[in-house]
Amino acid sequence: MKDFSLEVHGCQYYDATGAISQPIYASATFRHPGFQQSTGYDYSRVTNPTREILEKNMALLERGTKSWAFSCGMAAISTVLKLFSPGEHVLLSEDLYGGTARLVNEIYSRYGIRFEYIDTSDTALVRQRLRPETKGLFIETPSNPMMKISDIHALASLAHANGARLIVDNTFLSPHFQRPLKLGADIVVHSGTKYLCGHNDVLAGFIVVSEGCPDTEAIELFYKSEGAVLDPFSSWLMLRSLKTLGLRLERQAANAAKIVDWLLKQPTVTEVFYPGLPCHPGHDLQARQASGFGGMVSFKVSSAELAKKSLGRLKLIAFAESLGSVESLLTYPIEQTHKESPAELLKKAGVDDCLLRLSVGIEDIDDLIADLAQALKED
Ligand SMILES: Cc1ncc(COP(=O)(O)O)c(C=O)c1O
Repeated sequence: MKDFSLEVHGCQYYDATGAISQPIYASATFRHPGFQQSTGYDYSRVTNPTREILEKNMALLERGTKSWAFSCGMAAISTVLKLFSPGEHVLLSEDLYGGTARLVNEIYSRYGIRFEYIDTSDTALVRQRLRPETKGLFIETPSNPMMKISDIHALASLAHANGARLIVDNTFLSPHFQRPLKLGADIVVHSGTKYLCGHNDVLAGFIVVSEGCPDTEAIELFYKSEGAVLDPFSSWLMLRSLKTLGLRLERQAANAAKIVDWLLKQPTVTEVFYPGLPCHPGHDLQARQASGFGGMVSFKVSSAELAKKSLGRLKLIAFAESLGSVESLLTYPIEQTHKESPAELLKKAGVDDCLLRLSVGIEDIDDLIADLAQALKED
């Protein structure tokens, strides 16, 4: 099946009624037919029929073999970080989502795992920094918020030659545009709250693993033992959202490209970070490893004062955290998404008080540009 059909139909499961929309099995537990007998469903922390269809669909979309749906992206990322043991070394992209950096710096570092942030868009640097005890590479590509592109295939080869796994946070592009497992990654994680949901009404997270991933059993154990699983109603909402994933993303990306063209001509805009720009250093790589450039655009304005003022002037676009929804959102990373990332890392990555991050929605492009024009004008 081709992408748009797969997004609409998923694993094509129909129950005995033939219902097109999956039933919501709001049951915590399941009746056993007899002693040592099970319908296949015993207790919803472990398996729930609605969530199971969603997980099958996500595995299909990401071209993985198994997927788990979590209560949010951080729960999924936390599960993946538990795969590492004291003494092991993990390399991470230096401009990661701030919540992931906080989890790493303030929680998992306590357990003796050695984390090191580097510019993973520099493959040679990654090769240099691998040590015998490096067991993981955790990347975001495009990175957040500087939109740097890392070479998934090359990093997977480096990781495997070193006995390490490559984990890709695929939140920014979703499987509609990028499928890291096909490029050699071992594990994909998602904040399903973003493009996969697309409507700002569900918190969700996913892990998807490649065929033969040696971590499958360990992930299953953490998932069912810790219970940070997605509830049946949210699972149903996510199933509904996935059907329009491609439609939303194509429109968001088309709007983003037009906004980038417009931003480049604005006197108050000093830099634009978007991998769809031919002059972006990761443009060619992104064109090879993904089928689109996405709907996220970061840009710098002439002063921190203007950046802050523009947020209060917005009329249609919302000044809010998060991304990936049908509504356009403008974020101030240094005070919001990346507030808790180490200051020296932010400085190195170029995240400063003039930087704004726009998650482009599906509104009419003229209305979006008109709103940006009045918000970004110099007094
Ligand atoms: C790239 C990325 N990964 C992970 C997360 C965490 O996901 P959640 O907010 O669903 O826990 C976020 C949240 O903003 C994110 O932007």
